[in-house]
Amino acid sequence: MTDDLRHPIFARLYPRLDAASAKAGGDEHRAELLDGAAGRVLEIGAGYGANFPHYPEAVAEVVALEPEPRLRALAAEAASRAPVPVTVRPGRAEDLDLDDASVDVVVASLVLCSVRDPIRALAEIRRVLRPGGELRYYEHVRGRTPGKIRFQRYADLAWPLIAAGCRVSRPTDEWIAGSGFTVRGQRRFEFPPTAMPNPASPHVLGIAVRD
Ligand SMILES: C[S@@+](CC[C@H](N)C(=O)[O-])C[C@H]1O[C@@H](n2cnc3c(N)ncnc32)[C@H](O)[C@@H]1O
Repeated sequence: MTDDLRHPIFARLYPRLDAASAKAGGDEHRAELLDGAAGRVLEIGAGYGANFPHYPEAVAEVVALEPEPRLRALAAEAASRAPVPVTVRPGRAEDLDLDDASVDVVVASLVLCSVRDPIRALAEIRRVLRPGGELRYYEHVRGRTPGKIRFQRYADLAWPLIAAGCRVSRPTDEWIAGSGFTVRGQRRFEFPPTAMPNPASPHVLGIAVRD
């Protein structure tokens, strides 16, 4: 199986869309996600490297996997400007090319919505984390009201086609809690702040510790 997943249109659009999101508060979320991270880090689905400027000095090394070639090239450029050593390489979250218990932290931001098999990805993340290691996550997730969930299920009929496989109705926070992690802290919020109905607005930002 090749590690490449080509989404050329999404890869062109995503950095611009995310720049708007960064101004609306996304940058603060990324800083919060990585605050206190330390040691050897694996970032899955790193995109164009939007998290890289936010890694604190206590991080010794980041291995950043990105299966989309155009985004991976942008991530490699961003890695050269990062405040800590970052190595960018191909790779899918469901099949990690890392040893058991070999990393201190795994970072997943806005990615478990897109991986084809998130349960397998979480099993892989758990495998490569050392016991007590942290999964730091920033994800949009399933809403809480029946109306919102219905809206998300309708959106998911078309959303994955325009957003490179992303699904908005996934209960990723529940899957994390049920995959051999203890959630140490998590906050839930709506983002971005807009009056427009947005099926991807429910977000979680948290840390789960590998049992
Ligand atoms: C919405 S983007 C988020 C990128 C980045 N994590 C961020 O926070 O900006 C989703 C990313 O997941 C990647 N992706 C999709 N399927 C994946 C998989 N199976 N394993 C790892 N990454 C995947 C995509 O290529 C894309 O870069």
